[in-house]
Amino acid sequence: MSPRAQNTRRFLLLAVVAAIVGLVIGLLIGRFGIRSDNDDYRITGISETFVQDADPTISEEIMDNINSDNIRQYLRELTEYPHLAGTDADYKQAKDLQEFWRSVGLDETFITPYDVLLSYPETKDESKMNRIFVYDSAGQVVWKSALYEPILDPSENKSNVVPPFNAYSAPGDINSTDLVYVNYGRVEDYRWLAQNTDINITGKIVLARYGKIFRGDKARQAEIRGAKGIILYSDPEEYADDSENTDVYPHDWFLPESGTQRGSIYIGIGDPLTPGYPATETAYRLNESDPNTMLPKIPCHPIGYGVAKTLMSYMSGDQVPASWRGGLNITYRFGGPLKQSGWKIRIRISTTNTRRKTYNVFGVIRGSVEPDRYVLLGNHLDAWVFGAIDPSSGTAVMKEVSRVMGNLVRSKKWRPRRTIIFCGWGAEEYMLMGSTEWVEQYVKNLGNRAVAYLNMDMAIEGNYTLRIRATPMMQSVVYDATKKVLNPDNTDTQFKTVYDKWLHAFPNSDKSQPRILGLGTGSDHAAFIQRAGLPSIDFLYTYNWDKYRIASYPLYHSKYETFKAVDEFMDRGFKCHRASGQVWAEVARNLADSLVIPFKIQDYANKLRDGVEELDRNLGSLMRRNGIQTDLLYEATALFAAEVASFQKRVDTVDRKNPFAIRGINDQIMLMERAFIDPEGLPGRPLARHIVFAESSTDSYSSATFPGLVDGMFEI
Ligand SMILES: *[C@@H]1O[C@H](CO)[C@@H](O)[C@H](O)[C@H]1NC(C)=O
Ligand SMILES: *[C@@H]1O[C@H](CO)[C@@H](O)[C@H](O)[C@H]1NC(C)=O
Ligand SMILES: *[C@@H]1O[C@H](CO)[C@@H](O)[C@H](O)[C@H]1NC(C)=O
Ligand SMILES: *[C@@H]1O[C@H](CO)[C@@H](O)[C@H](O)[C@H]1NC(C)=O
Ligand SMILES: *[C@@H]1O[C@H](CO)[C@@H](O)[C@H](O)[C@H]1NC(C)=O
Ligand SMILES: *[C@@H]1O[C@H](CO)[C@@H](O)[C@H](O)[C@H]1NC(C)=O
Ligand SMILES: [Zn+2]
Repeated sequence: MSPRAQNTRRFLLLAVVAAIVGLVIGLLIGRFGIRSDNDDYRITGISETFVQDADPTISEEIMDNINSDNIRQYLRELTEYPHLAGTDADYKQAKDLQEFWRSVGLDETFITPYDVLLSYPETKDESKMNRIFVYDSAGQVVWKSALYEPILDPSENKSNVVPPFNAYSAPGDINSTDLVYVNYGRVEDYRWLAQNTDINITGKIVLARYGKIFRGDKARQAEIRGAKGIILYSDPEEYADDSENTDVYPHDWFLPESGTQRGSIYIGIGDPLTPGYPATETAYRLNESDPNTMLPKIPCHPIGYGVAKTLMSYMSGDQVPASWRGGLNITYRFGGPLKQSGWKIRIRISTTNTRRKTYNVFGVIRGSVEPDRYVLLGNHLDAWVFGAIDPSSGTAVMKEVSRVMGNLVRSKKWRPRRTIIFCGWGAEEYMLMGSTEWVEQYVKNLGNRAVAYLNMDMAIEGNYTLRIRATPMMQSVVYDATKKVLNPDNTDTQFKTVYDKWLHAFPNSDKSQPRILGLGTGSDHAAFIQRAGLPSIDFLYTYNWDKYRIASYPLYHSKYETFKAVDEFMDRGFKCHRASGQVWAEVARNLADSLVIPFKIQDYANKLRDGVEELDRNLGSLMRRNGIQTDLLYEATALFAAEVASFQKRVDTVDRKNPFAIRGINDQIMLMERAFIDPEGLPGRPLARHIVFAESSTDSYSSATFPGLVDGMFEI
C-alpha cells in the first residue's frame, strides 16, 4: 500500500467518523430542536427566505415594463424573411433568440436539435411543381391552379417563399373524370351525402372547403372513404367576411382571392418515424411506408378562392343545400362527372418527405428556493412564410417578457422562487415536432418537476378580447391575472380590465365567469398535457367571434400574413400584444413565485361534474340504450369532489412557516393533473393518455371531455 493510499484511507476514516458525528448531532437537533407548543411543531433555524411568499410589488413592475414599441420592433425583425422549419433561416432564428436571451441576463441558454421527418414541395422545376389541371376532351389544359401567390405589397418581395402546399401530402400524379364537393369534409358531411344522394366518392377527387375541423382530418376522411385525391380551398364565407367582394389584403385583414392556406395534414403529433420516443440522431426509425407512421396516402393540395370559383363552374350535379353553400357568387353543386363530357381533372404533387434537423432553444432563470421546480413558457419559432401572426407575434411577446424578467434578475431586484424556462420550439407547423420530441425525451423529469406549461402560439389574431384554452386548475390563476391587466382598448371604457372584456365576450353558461375552452392538439401544449400530464394553458387575443363568423383570422398560413397586416390592420399600436404578454407574464410569475402553488383543484372537481352532466345530456340516453350506466361516473366525480374539499382544507391550514409541509402540499398540487394520465393511453390511441381531456378523434383542433367515452359513442 503506498503512502498516498494510506493517507486516503485515513481521510476516509475521518470522513466516516465526521459523518456519524454529524448524523448524531443532526438527530439530537431533530429530537430537541423541534419545539412542541400545543401539539403543534416548528422547525427553528430555517431561513425565512424558504418560507417567504412572493414580493407583491414585482407583479406590477413586470407588467408595467412590458413595452409595445419593443414588441413591434421585435416583430418587424422576426418577419423580415420567411422562416420555414428545417431551413437555414429557421436555425438562424434559434441562434438569434439564444443570443438575445444571453444579452438580457438569463442564467443559462441551450439548443437541443432533433432529427425529424419534414416535408417540402418542389420549387425549382416548374414542370414538376404541385399543380391542379383541368383538361378538355381534346387533352388541352382549360384551367390550372396558381403556382405562387402574387406579390401584393413590396414587403413580400423576398426569396424563399415556399409555394402553397400541404405538408406530408402523398406525392402522385392522378386524374379523374369526376370532382365531388364534400362541404367541410367532415364525417357528418360524408354521412349526409350517403343518406341524401347516390354519389360514391371511391376513386374520385374531392373538393372540400377549409374550416370547422383540422385539415389533416379532412384528408384522412377522404382517404379512408376511398377518394383518390383531395383539394382544399378557402371559401370567402370563412376567410373574407362572406363575400368575394370584401375589402381584402393589402387594404384590410381579409384574405384576397389568391391567398392560400398552407398547412400540415399529418394527423399525429411529433416525428412520424419515432412515435412515442425522441427523434435523436441514433433513434430507431419506422420505414416511411409503415402504416404506423399514419402518413397520408393520397395527394392533397390547397388553392385560393379565385381559382376555386372557376373550378366549381366546371362542376355538374344538383345544387347543394343552403348549409353547404359558401360565399362565392356561383351555384354550389355536388359534382360528379365534370360538366363537359370527356373533361378530366388532374392533381400533380411532387412534395417529398425528408429528414431534417429542427432546433429548440431554451432560456433559463434559475429559481432561488426551488430550482428543481419548473414553470415553462413556450412559443414556436417556425412559420410557413413570414408568420407575422403565427407564430412571430408570440415570439415577439416572449422576447419582451424574457427581457423584462431577465433585467429584474440581472439587477438583483428579483429572482423567482421556482425556475422559469422560456422555450422556443422548432417545426411546430409540421405537427408539433420540437415540443413533442422534447417532451418524449424528458417526460420523466417533467413529470416529476414541472409545475405548468404556458403556451403562446400567437399573441394576437384580433384586437377584441382574450381567449384561453386551459386545464381547469389554471382557471383561478388566469382570472386573477386578467383582473390586474387593463383592457388595452381604451375607447372601450365600459370594460376596465382584460377580465371584464373577456367576461363580456365569452361568458360561461351562468354568465358568472369567462368561459375557458378545452385544450385540443392545435399547438405545442399538446404533448405537455397529453403525454406528461402537465397543467397547460394557451393564451391568445382574438377578434369578435359574434361579429366575424370566420374560421380563423383570414390571412392564416398565407403569404400575406405580414408585418404590414399586423401593424396596419390587426393591432395598431400593439396594445393587444402587450396585454397578452402581461397576462402571460403574470400567470408565470404567480406560478413561479408564490409560496403555495396557486392552482385551485376545486375547479377541477366542478369541471368534471359539468363534463359528466354534459355527457349525460348529449349521449346519456344513447349510452343507456347500449347498456352503459352513467351512475358510476356521477359517483366517481362526487367522490373526487369530496376528496378535493378535504385536501383544500389542508392547503388552507398548512403551516406556512414549515418548508417541508409547504413542499409536500405543493408536490401534491403539482402532481394532481398527472393522476389523469393513463400510461396505456386511450382505446386505440396509445399516445393520447389524458383520460379526461384529449383531442376529439375526428377533429384534432377540438377537445372532448371523457374522450374515450365520446369516441366510443361516436362509433355507435
Ligand atoms: C421584386 O424585387 C426585384 C428586385 O429586388 C424587382 O426587380 C421586382 O420588380 C420586384 N417585384 C415586385 C412585384 O415588386
Ligand atoms: C390518368 O391516370 C391514370 C392512372 O394513374 C394513368 O394511367 C393515365 O395515363 C392518366 N391519364 C392522363 C390523361 O393523365
Ligand atoms: C362505391 O364504389 C366502389 C367501387 O366503385 C364500390 O366498391 C363501393 O361498394 C361503392 N360504395 C357504395 C356505398 O355504393
Ligand atoms: C421501406 O419499405 C419499402 C416497402 O416495403 C421497401 O421497399 C424499402 O426498402 C424500405 N426501406 C427501408 C429503408 O427499409
Ligand atoms: C353574381 O354573378 C352574376 C352573374 O355572374 C352577376 O350578374 C351579379 O352581379 C353577381 N353578384 C354579385 C353580388 O357580385
Ligand atoms: C381591430 O381589428 C379590426 C378587424 O377585426 C380592424 O378593423 C380594426 O381596425 C382593428 N383595430 C386596431 C386598433 O388595430
Ligand atoms: Zn402556430
